[in-house]
Amino acid sequence: MSENKKNDSEGKSISDSSLTANRLYTKPDLEKIAAGEHYLNRIKSFVLRTGRLTPGQAKAIETLGPQFLLPYTGQAIDWGKAFQSTDTPKSITSTNTRPKILEIGFGMGETTAKIAQARSEDDFLAIEVHEPGVGALLKVIGEQSITNLRLIRHDAVEVVQNMIPENYLDGVHVYFPDPWHKKRHNKRRLIQPEFAALLASRIKPGGYWHLATDWQEYAEQMMEVLSAEPSLQNTGSLEGAYSERPSYRPITKFENRGIRLGHGVWDLVFKKK
Ligand SMILES: C[S@@+](CC[C@H](N)C(=O)[O-])C[C@H]1O[C@@H](n2cnc3c(N)ncnc32)[C@H](O)[C@@H]1O
Repeated sequence: MSENKKNDSEGKSISDSSLTANRLYTKPDLEKIAAGEHYLNRIKSFVLRTGRLTPGQAKAIETLGPQFLLPYTGQAIDWGKAFQSTDTPKSITSTNTRPKILEIGFGMGETTAKIAQARSEDDFLAIEVHEPGVGALLKVIGEQSITNLRLIRHDAVEVVQNMIPENYLDGVHVYFPDPWHKKRHNKRRLIQPEFAALLASRIKPGGYWHLATDWQEYAEQMMEVLSAEPSLQNTGSLEGAYSERPSYRPITKFENRGIRLGHGVWDLVFKKK
């Protein structure tokens, strides 16, 4: 990418948190975004915290990492191979016809583990940058013998861009992404028009994208961004076109406390056209 082009694309980014990017980008720009060509210099949606691993988390990474923690390769994922269990006969190799669900930013992974157990017919690839979270979820995978879940510790934007083929995923979960409350930090929010176009391009026609947040202004941003993405269709039927919480998404402890205090939670469920 030339220096000018780079400045151009940075200039056109939505760093002022305006939600007008679909109007700022030309169609060829949006096609490039969908092809994943824009992201390398972007502002990250996370700050890596220096959390210490507990001995249990460290042990889980050491013992279960080789089977359940996939490396970031920057190459298209071989899903069948990734989900092949060690006791799968070698003759049954990398085909995989089970539904493929991606989760972004699983935190400590409580919700991820519950959903993977409840939906044993589906395979879940869950991404998180925070190492203690990865250790914690690996520990639960071991304790509860969960087989249909694999993790990647890397920036999800790059994973989606470089490892997930187009029209590939049956579903995507993004639960309580960092709201970046302060106006000057809003640009760090994950759900922006560029990312919506990129991620939507990776979902199969008929596949879904489910998001939840407890921050109303971010819910409104999500609603505006996803509604403006031409390849997505809202399935919501509540006021403002939000959705009822699908029964597979458990209520977290944190969410329960918020509900008791009268705070809202907004679920959004969009479908790829
Ligand atoms: C507020 S927490 C929510 C965690 C969890 N989904 C839940 O509902 O409790 C958001 C998480 O997303 C992770 N995250 C943010 N941006 C990310 C990115 N680009 N790639 C991977 N993880 C990311 C953060 O490290 C953090 O753990």
